[in-house]
Amino acid sequence: MDKQDKVLIFDTTLRDGEQAPGASMNEKEKLEIAYALERMGVDIIEAGFPVISKGDFNSVKNVAKHIKGSIVCGLARSIKEDIDAAYEAVKIAKQNRIHVFLATSKIHLQFKFKKSQDEILQMAVDAVKYARNKIADIEFSPEDASRTDKDFLYRILEAVINAGATTLNIPDTVGYSVPLEYGQLITDIKNNVPNIHEAVISVHCHDDLGVAVANSLAAIRNGARQVECTINGIGERAGNASMEEIVMALKTRGDFYGCTTGIHTQEICRVSRLVSKLTGFVVAPNKAVVGANAFRHEAGIHQDGVLKERSTYEIMRPEDVGFMETGLVLGKHSGRHAFKVRLKSLGIELTEPELEKAFARFKNVADKKKQVFEEDLLAIVEDEFKLVKRVWTLVSLVTKSGTSMKPNVEVVLESKGKTFRSHSSGDGPVDACYKAIDKVVKTKGELLDYSIQSVTRGKDALGEVTVKVKFKNKNVIAHGASTDILEASAKAYVNAVNKVVSSDLKD
Ligand code: KIV
Ligand code: ZN
Repeated sequence: MDKQDKVLIFDTTLRDGEQAPGASMNEKEKLEIAYALERMGVDIIEAGFPVISKGDFNSVKNVAKHIKGSIVCGLARSIKEDIDAAYEAVKIAKQNRIHVFLATSKIHLQFKFKKSQDEILQMAVDAVKYARNKIADIEFSPEDASRTDKDFLYRILEAVINAGATTLNIPDTVGYSVPLEYGQLITDIKNNVPNIHEAVISVHCHDDLGVAVANSLAAIRNGARQVECTINGIGERAGNASMEEIVMALKTRGDFYGCTTGIHTQEICRVSRLVSKLTGFVVAPNKAVVGANAFRHEAGIHQDGVLKERSTYEIMRPEDVGFMETGLVLGKHSGRHAFKVRLKSLGIELTEPELEKAFARFKNVADKKKQVFEEDLLAIVEDEFKLVKRVWTLVSLVTKSGTSMKPNVEVVLESKGKTFRSHSSGDGPVDACYKAIDKVVKTKGELLDYSIQSVTRGKDALGEVTVKVKFKNKNVIAHGASTDILEASAKAYVNAVNKVVSSDLKD
């Protein structure tokens, strides 16, 4: 095959992804995701929108400080204050970028800005020049580009390239475009912006009509060489184009697109799982590439075909995206060394004391469920080593409930070497348990969301509970895992309390 063009992967999980309602992440969680993105070979990480809050500023700065292998980008409106904040946040990065945007469609000019096209063009040019005086790598986005008058779009793109923009992003901000039309827009830009060869054409698609990935691929086919996307497709409203789908489409259909990416695709499932865990957004089982059913064959004819020759019904190999086969990995007779080696193969390296704790927890789980799968190991480690200060620990939980009685729960929690006990009844055992915890920790959390998933299959599987809890005006997402779902529920709630207490301590 001829040499393939590289498409740059610009991940905006930490910025547009975080704009998904309810998906906010804290500074440490964002850094954890940034490390995972760097490890998977993402070219550019959009780490946030520094001007919007002190928290966002600090998160972007933190990512900029630690990430060396990817360009770290901060978003800014076309105003000096935003550009200054973005610059201050990313200037420490080994490789940095400022992403300046300004809406250009008629609707936005008329209703949002009440400005003429000439005024908007001047604002864009001034902003790009101002940013370019600070750093060399400048991206410009004409927001709502797909609904912008084409002649004006060409004019503004030409002007911002002359002002110093090095990447031109063409957002389908409201997910209005469709593949043939959006692909044609990229061709038209190439044919009508005289200096376009001086910049990289980027695309940024939203999924309101369910065609964000298709639009992105159509644009790549027509010459775009940067694609903006998020893990699991999370983002504003219906979300952004999903990175894993674009990357795997380019890899699987390299014959058609003639393009490649620098993504280590074996990392995909792990990063997908991490983002799902930290945002609390569960991945649908039928989600392409990373859904639990993405590589499961149910129909007898399919199973028979796959056993005879995989490619009959499989266009991608599960191992190419790091899809975890639920094969037995360890049992209760496995030793510390096997445990350590297995964690290492999953990309987890623990300190000796952490390893001791994790190993003890693993033995406990292995005693209860005989077979311990990779997913169990990940759940144990993630549950045990939350990036949160462990102010409270669940010591024990006793529940009494039944079809004809009001549930009653006793919890014992430990903090700073002391134990605290409390009882409560409630509308169900989970409600009773959370009320009892509230009494001990002297908070009152409002449970906004609760979900439970089985980590692996079988009756003895670990249950993983995800809760979203509101404490005063702070929303936190937390998880807990156990073979006992009430214990998992209690752990998730205690983890939520720890999260909010540790962020209060930091504030
Ligand atoms: O959707 C959009 O237009 C954006 C811009 C800031 C690029 O997210
Ligand atoms: Zn967007």
